[in-house]
Amino acid sequence: MTTRSSSSSVHRPEWGRVPRLAFGGDYNPDQWNREVWKEDIRLMRQAGVNLVTLGVFSWSWIEPEQDRFDFSGMDEVVELLHAGGISIDLATPTASPPPWFSEAHPEALLVDRTGRRLGHGSRQGFCPSAAGYRERSAVVVEQLVRRYGDHSAVVLWHIGNELGGYNAHCWCDATAEAFRGWLQRRHGGLDEVNRAWGTAFWSQRYSAWSQIQPPGLTPGRVNPAQQLDFYRFGSDELLDCYRAERELIRRHVPATPVTTNFMAGTYKWADYFHWATEMDVVANDHYLVAADPDSHVDLALSADLTRGTAGGAPWLLMEHSTSAVQWQPRNKAKRPGEMLRNSLSHIARGSDGACFFQWRQSDSGVEKWHSSMVPHGGEDTRIWREVVQLGGALERVREVAGSTVACEVAIVWDYENYWALEMDAHPSVGMTYADEVRAWHRALWREGITCDVVPATADARTLAGYRLVLVPSQYLMSGSTSAALTAYAEGGGHLVVGPFSGLVDTDDRVHPGHYPGALRELLGLHIDEFLPLGEGETTELDNGLAGRVWCENVVPGTAAVEASFVSGPAAGFPALLRRRVGEGLVRYAATRFDDTSLRALLSGALAEAACTPAARGGGDGIETVRRQGADASWLFVVNHTGSEARLECTGFELLNGVHVTGTLVVPPGEVAVVRESRQP
Ligand code: GLA
Repeated sequence: MTTRSSSSSVHRPEWGRVPRLAFGGDYNPDQWNREVWKEDIRLMRQAGVNLVTLGVFSWSWIEPEQDRFDFSGMDEVVELLHAGGISIDLATPTASPPPWFSEAHPEALLVDRTGRRLGHGSRQGFCPSAAGYRERSAVVVEQLVRRYGDHSAVVLWHIGNELGGYNAHCWCDATAEAFRGWLQRRHGGLDEVNRAWGTAFWSQRYSAWSQIQPPGLTPGRVNPAQQLDFYRFGSDELLDCYRAERELIRRHVPATPVTTNFMAGTYKWADYFHWATEMDVVANDHYLVAADPDSHVDLALSADLTRGTAGGAPWLLMEHSTSAVQWQPRNKAKRPGEMLRNSLSHIARGSDGACFFQWRQSDSGVEKWHSSMVPHGGEDTRIWREVVQLGGALERVREVAGSTVACEVAIVWDYENYWALEMDAHPSVGMTYADEVRAWHRALWREGITCDVVPATADARTLAGYRLVLVPSQYLMSGSTSAALTAYAEGGGHLVVGPFSGLVDTDDRVHPGHYPGALRELLGLHIDEFLPLGEGETTELDNGLAGRVWCENVVPGTAAVEASFVSGPAAGFPALLRRRVGEGLVRYAATRFDDTSLRALLSGALAEAACTPAARGGGDGIETVRRQGADASWLFVVNHTGSEARLECTGFELLNGVHVTGTLVVPPGEVAVVRESRQP
């Protein structure tokens, strides 16, 4: 077993010398020769690139054989970048151990749920708990930091890459041992584990630690509390890989910030709210899903969630794409102007930069058909021209760096609940998580409302900063979350809660009494029976709204019935209820809604809570977000529609350098960033 590294969260160097707004991308010079490197620097300067992530997958370049290090190429590239005035986000190469590693440490290769050991030849093929991996990672990181830690071009450290992307969970013996150690730290003794996991059920009582295994392939369904703890352990184990590397770096260069790139919104297995507390700078990757017509709205959720994990502070868009990716079934190219819209949407929502995967398009390997800043065709391409244009645009809006995003609405996102809700053996497989939160967020987006995304651990004081708090789907709910929501409502807040919420505690044990145990008092109702719908089945309400997936037999107590079901298994029972709590207002929906109904529900709640878009004229595809600084505010308007947008606004538009007096006109597909003369 390796020694688990401990957190030293006291020290947070934050952004330090990282250029803001940052502009650049992943730079993989090991795929190219010296002539190309020189050309790269020339082009980077031409586009205004100020930060590159160097060497994410460079392990076999700098350590071609175990303990034989060759930094000659990287030395040269570091000096070329430095001479070109380009800062370096230096990556540890630990996302992709070289073939010599897998040959020497076959025991470190990932084992899947069936017990099958996976082969070498891709990336992230290692088990995060493998001692051999931890040891060799430490060696290469130590070498890197000793060599480049003091170099003035290195302004940020980037640990691994999208931790857990392909190796979130492993089922090898080292994992089993690490899992047992984690359980001991979380629960103390075996009796506590037995209690937490409810092992009285199906005769699962453990009498020795050695009997405990990761939840693998079994004939029937696996203990849900055991699964939930395994997911917690997996998230912590990946974070521990990060911490171990970060501590090595900090020992040498405590003032240089350290980060890793999140996949907020798309990746399920890391509790990024928890992880973010260990980052000096929170960074995120986001890619549009070609098959999703609302992918620009999904972008907004990813950005809002990233900002939420950063506690509202500026964060860094580490990767997105200039055009198509290559890993979806059909990879659509971005159309002219789309990359600029995407970049500025991220910046509007708190990113202090726009970086890409990757700088130069590979000519071989898995990602050769993935777009990049420098396409195969070089400078004479639409993409390159737009990259140069983007560099200029970022220069013009640079003054927004360091400012934060002002929101009146918050939506709760909770990773533990995500894991617990989507486990099997539930009343309906239709009660999924991320897509439901996305639907609520999308309804706000269409209303022109930008929201913060807050964790379920947000306290009443944090919640009190919002006029409206939305809890779309919170099956797992701790006593402290229900207490915070109650205090928020009692303090005058408006709250909307979706169905199948407040049911189990953090061990996935049902809260006692009538459902929903954690929210019964606050909502002023109880649920007598769940009445899930069949696939594709819908249910109508007497106010014209339509539900899907789910309904319930709700018994109102102190809550008033606003609408009832008129069809389906819950016909005649309440569907929407509200309860006044002091000055506050709590609403409960006993079904999941289609997009139109959800928008109707939330637009009513927004109006009652007096929440408005950042500028009059926002909404229906006109994205409006306000960044607020100490002495100024900036209104970002992204026009996603095919028609001209007209908004109420006065100030100075930075992209075109024009004064705006009263009305801002944004042509179809274009963006405006206005330094406002009047504080909102
Ligand atoms: C992820 C990875 C990159 C690259 C891109 C491609 O974000 O971090 O290395 O593979 O996907 O979209």
